[in-house]
Amino acid sequence: MQKHTPKRIDAFLSSLGYCSRKEAKKFMRMYTIRVKNDVVFNPALKAYHEDITINNEPLDALTLTLLMHKPKDVICSHDDAGVLIYSLLPERWQRRNPKLSTVGRLDVDTTGAILITDNGALNHKLTSPKSEAIKVYEATLAQPLRGDEAEIFESGNLMLHGEIKHLLPAKLTVISPTRVQLEICEGRYHQVKRMFAAVGNRVIQLHRLNFAGFSVENIPEGEYKIIQNIL
Ligand code: URA
Repeated sequence: MQKHTPKRIDAFLSSLGYCSRKEAKKFMRMYTIRVKNDVVFNPALKAYHEDITINNEPLDALTLTLLMHKPKDVICSHDDAGVLIYSLLPERWQRRNPKLSTVGRLDVDTTGAILITDNGALNHKLTSPKSEAIKVYEATLAQPLRGDEAEIFESGNLMLHGEIKHLLPAKLTVISPTRVQLEICEGRYHQVKRMFAAVGNRVIQLHRLNFAGFSVENIPEGEYKIIQNIL
């Protein structure tokens, strides 16, 4: 494994959310911190991340990417009123700096696959308009399909209300007259709901099955798994 640059122990402890820099001295008396085999007490001591243990456990990873199965009524934001998605994570992870942030957003009433990362480059890469990361949704509709939706969505000619650029072609798979799967490669604001509004329908339930190849099929709602080596 690559050795990163050595840093002060208090810098690791605070950026990984174990304690504040101010609290590091006390933290190092409460827990057994080792650098390789030596027990250490000095917060200013420089060490490699991979050489440090706390009570014989390695430090949390320097960057963290998670795949969460977002439940309903949970908000993809750092500062809105209500239950924030980050509150479902361990408190230590909530204190990390750089912060963990969702890769794009799902509406409060949408469930399913969302990546959460503190890797800014990865987040940017997957949300940039050039990314074309595939998103697969399952939608329940208020009205039965009228029959021309798949053709319209696949045409590359659909213009959403208030926009000036056509949507890229999207693939619609019909499950029943009021249930569909929709595969899109953009991430415009409320895109799925607005696509169905554009064809005279309304989405009453929305679930994202897959984001950029990451499926939540085996992850219970509200839970998450760590994704390794994503970049
Ligand atoms: N499209 C929507 O309308 N809502 C979402 O949450 C995701 C995609």
